[in-house]
Amino acid sequence: MLGRLNHVAIAVPDLEAGCRVYKSMLGATVSEPQAEPDHGVTVVFVELPNTKVELLEPLGENSPIQAFLDKSPAGGIHHVCYEVDDIIAARDHLKQEGARVLGDGEPKTGAHGKPVLFLHPKDFCGTLVELEQA
Ligand code: CO
Repeated sequence: MLGRLNHVAIAVPDLEAGCRVYKSMLGATVSEPQAEPDHGVTVVFVELPNTKVELLEPLGENSPIQAFLDKSPAGGIHHVCYEVDDIIAARDHLKQEGARVLGDGEPKTGAHGKPVLFLHPKDFCGTLVELEQA
């Protein structure tokens, strides 16, 4: 069922500082910041040869990553995103397996304009998992 690792998302308290780390220190290609008010984040994409890293900074008052940063003020890995061919089939399979799908269980449009779902960290080795239909 699982395809490629689409991205690793890292929550950061300061997007500019995070960009400096990846651009200047690590020499990676980093996109311009992109505000995503619907998701409560501003994001940059770090392009790597085989996958992406996304740096997420809270945007607005009810950002879903604020609680994470309250617990980990320096930032940290927030979720991993795996590609699937058919997100509805993947969701139905996981529900059958007893996994919890977050929210109302219906795919939302993610940062790349594709359908995404999030899965409960307690069911996935303590890691928040995003599925994206490739
Ligand atoms: Co993501």
